[in-house]
Formats: sequence, C-alpha cells, structure tokens
Amino acid sequence: MADMTVAYSPSHGLGEEQSIWFKLTPLLNQENPMQVLMALSDKYGGIIPINLKNQRIVLLSEPAHAERVLVSNADNYTKYFDGLRPIFGNSMITIDGALWQKIRTPQQAAFHPNMFEEYFPYLMSAIDSKMARWTEIAETGETVEMVEETWTLAAEMVCKALFDREMPFNPHFVFQQVKTYTDVMNHKSIRLKNQRGELVEMTSETTAKAMEVWHSIPDMVMGANVLEHREKTLLKMLEAAEADPDFPEFDHRQVIDEMKQYLWAGTETTALTLAWSLYLLSQHPEAMERIRAEAHAVCGDADPEWNQVQQLAYTRQVIQETMRLFPPIWALIRIAAGDDDIQGHKIKAGDKVVILTYIAHHNPKYWDDPEKFDPERFAPERAKKRVKYSYLPFAAGKRACIGGALSQIENTLALVQLLRRFTPEYVGPVPAKIHATVTFCPKGGLPFRIRPR
Ligand code: HEM
Repeated sequence: MADMTVAYSPSHGLGEEQSIWFKLTPLLNQENPMQVLMALSDKYGGIIPINLKNQRIVLLSEPAHAERVLVSNADNYTKYFDGLRPIFGNSMITIDGALWQKIRTPQQAAFHPNMFEEYFPYLMSAIDSKMARWTEIAETGETVEMVEETWTLAAEMVCKALFDREMPFNPHFVFQQVKTYTDVMNHKSIRLKNQRGELVEMTSETTAKAMEVWHSIPDMVMGANVLEHREKTLLKMLEAAEADPDFPEFDHRQVIDEMKQYLWAGTETTALTLAWSLYLLSQHPEAMERIRAEAHAVCGDADPEWNQVQQLAYTRQVIQETMRLFPPIWALIRIAAGDDDIQGHKIKAGDKVVILTYIAHHNPKYWDDPEKFDPERFAPERAKKRVKYSYLPFAAGKRACIGGALSQIENTLALVQLLRRFTPEYVGPVPAKIHATVTFCPKGGLPFRIRPR
C-alpha cells in the first residue's frame, strides 16, 4: 500500500514538539478518535505507515504484530518516552537493555503474588478512607469526577501497601497538577494558541509549577509517617539497591525516579480501569447486582478476607472486560533499532512503531460482538479460546507490566466494597466521550453522583 501522509504543523514553546503524541494529534483530535483508527486499520489490513515530515510512524494492530515487536524480536525495539521524561525521570519503565534488567531485578520481589497477602490490609484501609469520603459525598449529593476519585484511592494504596507510609500529600491537588502535564494533546493546542498570540488557559509556567509539585512528592513520601516498619516493602528494596556498593547506577536519583514511576504508572492506569468499570456498571445494573450477589455469597455481610479474594471471580471478569473495552494504555510505542519485516511489511531502523492494543481488543476477528460489554467472555472456558496477544492490557514479553496482578486485586476489592455500600450513578453523556492521550481518558472526566445503597 502507499504510505499515508498526515498534515503536521510544527510548533514551538514547551520543547517537546518531536513527541509522537503531538504528531498523532491530527488523527486523535477527532470526535471519535478510535473509530478513525479502526476504520484505517480495517482498510489497510492492520498496518498503517504514516509519513510525517522527516520520520515514519507505523501503526500496528494485529496480535501477530504485537508478538513480533514485544516478544520474538523484542530486542530490536526500544522503549519510547519523549514528552514523558518529566513524569518518569529515568525510571526502569523508560530504560532498555542490560541496565533495565539490572534495575528491575531488585524490585521484582515486591510484585510476587506471595506478597499480596501482606498488602491486603493496606489496600482495605485505603478503601475504607474512600468509603468515609463517599459517605459524606452521598449526604451532600454533590457531583464528583470519578477518575479523580479512583486516582486518589490508587495513590493511597501505593503509599500504604508498597511504601509503608501514610499518604502525606493532598491527592486531589496532586492529581490536578499531574493531569496538567500529562494531557499532552492539550500542550500542543496551547502551543499553537501561543503561536497565534491568542489568550491561553494554561501557560507553560502552570506546567512548570505542576512539575515542581510532582518532583516534591517522593521526598514527601519518604519523610511521611511510617505505618508498620515492615521489613520487605518496595521502598526498602529500592533503598537496599541504593546502598549496594556493587550497584553504583542505582543512586538516590534512581530511587526518586522509581517512586515517581509507581505513583503514576501504578495509579493512573488502575484508577482509569476502576472509573471505567463503574461507568460500564452504571449502564449495566444487572452486572452491578451480580457483583453484589457474588460478594454476599462469598463474604456474607462481612468484609472480604484475603483467602476469599480468588472467589470473587465475576468481579474480576468485569475488570478484565473493562480493560478490553477501555484499555488504559491503548497504544504501546517502540523505536526500531534495526530493520525488520513484519508480515511482509518492511520496518526500517528509526521507525516508530505503535501497537494499537485498542484495535486488537475491538476486532471482530478475535471477539464475538466486540462492542458488547460481556464479562462472561473472561470466564475460564471461554477465555481458553482466546487468540494469543489479542488481549494486551498489560502489554506482553519481558517489558510487560510489573503490577498487573496487583492492580486486579486492588480493583476487585474496591469494586466489591464500594458497590456493597453505594450506588455510583453516572450523570454524564452516554456514550462517554474519549480523550486519547498517553492513557485512555474520558473527555472532561466521568461525572458521578454517589447514592447510599
Ligand atoms: C490496570 C492497571 C494497569 C495497567 C493497565 C498497566 C499497564 C501497563 C502497560 C501496558 C505497561 C507496558 C508499557 C509498555 O510496554 O510500553 C506497563 C508497565 C509497567 N507498569 Fe503497569 N499497568 C497497570 C498497573 C500497574 C501497577 C499497579 C503498577 C505498580 C504499582 C505498575 C507498574 C508498572 C511498571 C513499573 C511498568 C514498567 C515495567 C518495565 O518496563 O519493566 N502498573 N503497565
């Protein structure tokens, strides 16, 4: 097929104009960006090369493409993080090669399933804080933005379970600040507005201020009240790596950057999943009732015990189906180190490849009635028939998400506990509008009213 060319206006100001996210803006700033990508992918057989001025972006959307880039030829594809460095620093999510392996190894133990039982009371305690807040909100009847609600919950879970600290910052404030930066599409339009001399809603100083707040967070967490002085926490593992004389690369800066990584990669994605699942459940009250019935059958009227979590199978399926329909990370970006051939399509060194997991998740070749919310497709018998790499919420291969299993426990507990006490009612437009930035966000958020059950 002939390569496609997309108009791109260069802009100046915030210094990130080379970022691929800005370059994709003409495609993504549509009323329904995913429909546009699905139509293109359908038309061009899953591979869409796009020529942009001096570089090529190749959009990929078939499971076999993901297998090639993420697994069988993964060493040829390096991570891409332009535009997000201020959020992640040089944490492991951004690094490649031998150093990445060296940095991941000492942290891996914190995500082994045998640690989850230890985290369980802290996850429950964070959910208790959220329930206390929702009890007040239910009384006032005010409208809340659900992604902010779930982000603040996820941040408290990370602080308490992984760092053994009380959450020392106002999470609502920090959420707003970080959103100011990560909304990269917004940066682009702001820069364009600046160029035309128009009035701007958010200046680069606002962005700088947001980053200042963000950079102060790890020190604040380290200095916060220690909860239990547990021996084996993620923070202790990071500090042990820093103290290791044979590991000079893991300095204090690295500890700080790893913490930032967890406070974003471990919160925003988990929060979006929970918020989108509450949105879907408010459209499907029968599924909400089924979660409540499952919770009652497994736990009676008591709070869940750790050994009951595995039995909350339908609740977990709802979360999995939510991540299929609304994958928090809907695109995985890599840079080709050398030439490659993906199903007869030439990839050249330097090409940016974008794996569109959203498209694979919505492809009727791999999913019956793909737009339907059907948590039963994740029931064990049906899940066995799934085509490998057609479902990639946590990516795949050696760079797959370190916290995927943990996030599903967090969200299972949160759904069960919140829905047994409250009925969150979505009060925004249906269907909710999408804002596809680095993560798969609802445009303008998800407004909810919280009713007591
Ligand atoms: C629903 C929740 C989550 C989703 C959908 C998600 C998704 C992902 C994806 C797709 C990647 C790979 C990105 C790429 O290859 O470009 C990733 C990596 C990562 N995630 Fe998650 N994540 C979630 C929760 C978490 C949690 C709870 C944590 C930790 C507390 C976490 C920590 C990380 C880290 C550290 C990496 C980088 C791993 C590496 O490069 O070795 N994530 N995540």
